[in-house]
Amino acid sequence: MTCIPINIPHQHTVAPAQSQEDAPGCDLHRRSHAARQTIIHGDCLDAMRRMKAGSIDVVVTSPPYNIGVPYRSYDDRKPPEVYLRWMEEVAGQIARLLADDGALFLNIAAGPDPWIATDVAQAFRSHLTLQNRISWIKSIAIGDRTSGHFKPINSKRFLNRTHEEILHFTKRGDVEIDRLAIGVPYEDKTNLGRWQAARSDRRCAGNSWFIPYETVRARAGKHGHPAIFPVDLPLRCLQMHGETGTVLDPFAGSGTTLVAARMLGWNGIGIEIDDAYAEMARHRLAEIAGGSVSCC
Ligand SMILES: C[S@@+](CC[C@H](N)C(=O)[O-])C[C@H]1O[C@@H](n2cnc3c(N)ncnc32)[C@H](O)[C@@H]1O
Repeated sequence: MTCIPINIPHQHTVAPAQSQEDAPGCDLHRRSHAARQTIIHGDCLDAMRRMKAGSIDVVVTSPPYNIGVPYRSYDDRKPPEVYLRWMEEVAGQIARLLADDGALFLNIAAGPDPWIATDVAQAFRSHLTLQNRISWIKSIAIGDRTSGHFKPINSKRFLNRTHEEILHFTKRGDVEIDRLAIGVPYEDKTNLGRWQAARSDRRCAGNSWFIPYETVRARAGKHGHPAIFPVDLPLRCLQMHGETGTVLDPFAGSGTTLVAARMLGWNGIGIEIDDAYAEMARHRLAEIAGGSVSCC
């Protein structure tokens, strides 16, 4: 197992905002500069077993779905019982690592077998409590208008799959979330006066998240990984959880979760079994750390 710590250029300890000139926007830039991202190249179960219990605040991850995605080295077609036993072991380790008020956001899609997402949810149920069930809508069709993309399947039985699940698990199902951090403005502004809860022009956006999906070709052109999720997905999960801390992605792939962590000032740990994908993640992080962020 190789550990690749990413030393963010510009990384320096910055004192918290103190003066009038310290605008709130600056604080985010400072936190993101101080955050540390680590990529571990190796097997996630091995790596997680070595980590300290209760040391992780949030896990955002998308495991292989066992649907035959052509990863470079991982074989994504296992006998279903072997795959589900493995998922349960992963769930056990994640539950051990999470802090008491921590959360897991598990992104999972249905494959040709529409039960896969539900079966995986059950494997996690033995260790954690399902607090929210979020639908990640990748593409919508309303009347004759469509928006976003999906991976078309050639079938006389099945519809094209235009959404995936994001399962929000916590230890006891009672962790407070910051609904308004990912809220949307009221369409009808008279709500602002009427609802006591409407202190600001934001309401809870609900559990359908429309995050347009990039085509496989567009994504592969960018990072060369066949199953990347959009950075907006981990960004929303972290913002919904609230306070910054340490986020883990045991199936890090091209490092999207760590990119989101870096953007929001979280510490990130990503574990990836394939050396080329681990290198891809390192490269991606080094690129965003490189200099586009400036402190006002
Ligand atoms: C669905 S992809 C994750 C993609 C990631 N969310 C992104 O945006 O790039 C799943 C990843 O898990 C990796 N993987 C498979 N088995 C693993 C294991 N035992 N430990 C760590 N990573 C593993 C695969 O190589 C693949 O990159």
